[in-house]
Amino acid sequence: MFNVQLESWYSSFGRDLPWRHTSDPYLIMLSEFILQQTQISQGMDYYLRFAERFPTAESLADASEEEVLRLWQGLGYYSRARHLHAAAKQIAVAGNFPQDYAFVRALPGVGDYTAAAIMSFAFGQPYAVLDGNVQRVLARYFGISEPIDTTQGRKLLRTLADEMLDRQHPALYNQAIMDFGALQCKPSVPACEVCPLAETCQALRDHLVDKLPVKAKRTAVRDRYFTYIYTRTEDGQTLLRRRGGGDIWQGLFEFPMIESDNKLTSEQVDEFIRSSLVKIGVKVKVELVVSDVRHQLTHQRLHADFYCLTLSHKTVNGQWSNGHWVKESDIDRYALPRLLEKLMEKMKEGRPNS
Ligand code: ADE
Repeated sequence: MFNVQLESWYSSFGRDLPWRHTSDPYLIMLSEFILQQTQISQGMDYYLRFAERFPTAESLADASEEEVLRLWQGLGYYSRARHLHAAAKQIAVAGNFPQDYAFVRALPGVGDYTAAAIMSFAFGQPYAVLDGNVQRVLARYFGISEPIDTTQGRKLLRTLADEMLDRQHPALYNQAIMDFGALQCKPSVPACEVCPLAETCQALRDHLVDKLPVKAKRTAVRDRYFTYIYTRTEDGQTLLRRRGGGDIWQGLFEFPMIESDNKLTSEQVDEFIRSSLVKIGVKVKVELVVSDVRHQLTHQRLHADFYCLTLSHKTVNGQWSNGHWVKESDIDRYALPRLLEKLMEKMKEGRPNS
């Protein structure tokens, strides 16, 4: 009765979300790419903007990478946006959206979860989704104490997910179990007292709700220290450079930056400015405008300081001589990492007239 109870719960409490009103596989793929990055409330705006600007895979395929990244800005993890773009190109070349699981799963950026979501929501095919919400519901309901991030734990949950799927109504069931995990069987303070599955929930019976699911390992987090030098001329031009590959934020724009193992002193920053950034003899003013901003990525904790360097005229040397000078008022046309957006906001807060 598990699936009947879930679906009945969903008919009363499920959320009305825009991507649930379509069976267009491209729009469903788009929504799933966005929702892997963010909460529903924020994801909704992004989805509506993308769906309006790029209503079809072909329209997205035809866009420049820069435009796609700009629209994605704020969601973070830009390789996801690049994969989405690449997937749209493949679909456009093929002439239609693949309807076969293996083809869908082979699209760039599409993993087991997204493939199952597309196959069930768009094509009504019996593939069970298994995301964090579903893992939690199943681990609790079946009292699974096996860590869910081990091979064995993953296998066990996959088997349960496939067994529990309502094969007659895979789209309904998948939406139902995901919403149930998000709204009812929440990570902390789940609403067990009003839960339709309470009578048969193993974790509730064993008082293990707050212990499940179990994870075996915590991933190591690396600290990185970024010192940005917002380099501007008195007439309002600023220096930007596009980041290369092999690290975070590939293809995004940033200001001159030093990465170090520890926070830099202002003397070290002065030294960098003199030796690597600015030609001798230019009148400069340097000030630290924002300090110690933290930014968390999946496996990295970034610590950022933000200096403002004002030059009398455009002149830089060393590795920055190939940077681009752009008008400060045009910065928002460039896709910047979320961290830099945060720093810019903080800088503006501190200088209301700039
Ligand atoms: N999270 C990821 N995909 C979702 C969807 N289709 N509906 C609700 N939440 C989601």
